[in-house]
Amino acid sequence: MLGVFDSGFGGLHVLRGMVARLPQYSCLYLGDSARAPYGSRSQEEVYRFTKQGVDFLFGQGATLVILACNTASSEALRKVQVEYGATRKVLGVLIPFAEAAAARSRSKQVGVMATEGTVRSGAYVRELTKLVPDMTIVQQACPRLVPLVEEGEQDSDEARSAVAACVRPLVAEGIDTLVLGCTHYGILEPYVREAAGEDIEIISDRDVVPQSLAAYLKRHPEIEARLDKGKPPRIFTTGDVETFDRLGSILFGQPVHAERAYLGE
Ligand code: DGL
Repeated sequence: MLGVFDSGFGGLHVLRGMVARLPQYSCLYLGDSARAPYGSRSQEEVYRFTKQGVDFLFGQGATLVILACNTASSEALRKVQVEYGATRKVLGVLIPFAEAAAARSRSKQVGVMATEGTVRSGAYVRELTKLVPDMTIVQQACPRLVPLVEEGEQDSDEARSAVAACVRPLVAEGIDTLVLGCTHYGILEPYVREAAGEDIEIISDRDVVPQSLAAYLKRHPEIEARLDKGKPPRIFTTGDVETFDRLGSILFGQPVHAERAYLGE
């Protein structure tokens, strides 16, 4: 099975893209909503929680786990990959985002909206400059956005102005491409578009991650052959199931009926 891990329900946006693009594969999803937001936590905590989440997904039968969470990809992926070695594959989302941004930006001025943890890690700057050494990357930490979404305030005036406050400084820097570097921002994309205007290319996980996963599975038929097929996705949360189902359904685009997961301390 394909396992998808996120700090909350935001990664259901990625799962939605995967189910649309790769409908044959059975998927498992875990959102650690009880401990979100990850973005303001220490790197040590993000690593520990991510490791527990990945263990859970492998324990449920995942063959391959994708860290849909940008914060976990930035702060925990390398260490988690080393721990699992070559047999249990864990993939992050930064490289697919960086490749898409590098391919689409003409002015080489790219904006990244992300959590404080992702910005602090410098991981996007590292991955983007590996691809385009003279690229200018303007990062914007948006600490208010994930709590607003987790509180169900994604359609409020407060959310709209919080998004505009994050996007305006990036537009003022002359970016032509904007990476939505956090799963939760998918739900706020209409406000991002409104604040960014029509000329800026927005790069969203729903398209980029499934596309890159499809290419990965083509390159690795030995992993592809081990994936279960034909079962509906199973969705788990560590948090309140009712809230998760309500907000998750918006991002997933169809009703979510999550099961409760217990990961420990
Ligand atoms: N899911 C996380 C990400 O993609 C953000 C939410 C959080 O801070 O927990 O970065």
